[in-house]
Amino acid sequence: MSSQNANVIWHHNETRQADRQRLTGQSGMVVWLTGLSGAGKSTISGSLEKKLIDSNRLVYVLDGDNLRHGLNQNLGFTQADRNENVRRIIEVADLFRDAGLITIVSCISPYAVMREVARQRIGDAHYIEVYVKADLDTCIQRDPKKLYEKALKGIIGHFTGISDPYEEPQQPDIVLDTNLLSAEESSDALFKYIMLWQEKRETD
Ligand code: PPS
Repeated sequence: MSSQNANVIWHHNETRQADRQRLTGQSGMVVWLTGLSGAGKSTISGSLEKKLIDSNRLVYVLDGDNLRHGLNQNLGFTQADRNENVRRIIEVADLFRDAGLITIVSCISPYAVMREVARQRIGDAHYIEVYVKADLDTCIQRDPKKLYEKALKGIIGHFTGISDPYEEPQQPDIVLDTNLLSAEESSDALFKYIMLWQEKRETD
């Protein structure tokens, strides 16, 4: 606990997560998508969100790009800022999970240490790490927002994969290789993975 919080005491309410679960018929979880810009995280998140909604599950997407327009608008792309960005996303994702939502996080989250913080904070029992994998050349070719073009010309600094690192996940729960799979095939595979994972959790 940091010193400025020494006099702040956690307030416990009577309502428990299980009470919300009874109402919604589902328990919350976090599906964390990490990968390079252009790997397909946002497209897969959107498609997965639709599949989950269509199967009557409460779901919400926390997209790195979108959160940088509000909650994280004061942050840039230095390592310290990215870590703070990811730290805030972890906290919000965990609140949404506690509220009972299937929470899909889509952010580059390039540093392994922060992804480990996410797993620890949210807890293994509620957390799936998804590596949306595409090699850098493929992402440069796709360049949907023309950001690689600017990064390669030096117009944008600290660009992941070009002038900033991306630490590949060593033990993701699932890898979606978008060099091989379409976004639709990837979200299909992830949807099936989540369904099996939830079934297993319920029977454990
Ligand atoms: S991080 O690393 O997790 O804090 O990044 P994230 O919050 O996901 O934001 C990444 C999106 O910001 C745009 N963008 C950049 N990405 C990487 N490096 C630099 N320097 C940069 N500048 C802007 C880009 O659109 C990223 O979105 P995606 O969806 O990954 O392409």
